[in-house]
Amino acid sequence: MEKVSAHVQLKSTAQSFEQSNHLSSLFQLLSIKDPDVAQHSHRVHEWVRDWLEFLNQDPVQADDSAVKTVRSIQVEIELAALLHDIGKLGVLSEILNKKQALSEDEWRMMKLHVDLGYQMLERLPGFDLIAALIRQHHERFDGRGYPLGLEGSQITPGAQLISIVDAFDAMTSKRCYQKQRSTSEALEELKNEAGRQFDPYWVKSFIRFTQQSFEFRADLKV
Ligand SMILES: [Fe+2]
Repeated sequence: MEKVSAHVQLKSTAQSFEQSNHLSSLFQLLSIKDPDVAQHSHRVHEWVRDWLEFLNQDPVQADDSAVKTVRSIQVEIELAALLHDIGKLGVLSEILNKKQALSEDEWRMMKLHVDLGYQMLERLPGFDLIAALIRQHHERFDGRGYPLGLEGSQITPGAQLISIVDAFDAMTSKRCYQKQRSTSEALEELKNEAGRQFDPYWVKSFIRFTQQSFEFRADLKV
């Protein structure tokens, strides 16, 4: 069902039939190359979509300028969430799936996925903002992220949303190279990283969203 809604969104945002086929093919390739990354991307897309829906109805934050900004580019943020790791198509599978710690060179290659994703999409008409969001999803609030080392308000709010959900899903899902954490442990870690990796404003917002959301999600416990 989620895959269908993401596909419909891809089709409606793409400006031509060829463009929509191009994006679907890229995502299909990612699903074949690395099903885990594709599934992670679908989950990040779902969480970001639901969080944005929450922001649309939340009276507490409705008048904040940051919320107005993300609501004005909601479709682009949701698509960037789905495609945020598309650049991993250009990273060797041996590096993507390595169980041991990556060497310095391997890390350098892994980090290239943000620029590769950006380059794959920036020339498609109407995808410049989506490409920019993808390029910023590993920037950090304290300026120690990559590829540009942007900090604080230099980072587009939409990229901060994706970055928080990306980290949350990475912590709470089974991965070969790290221990799976409970939802409450992951939320605690997000709080610890507020002001460092993440913008405290958006961490607070995500926690409010999850507190409301988990009341309706019997399969997940905070
Ligand atoms: Fe990434």
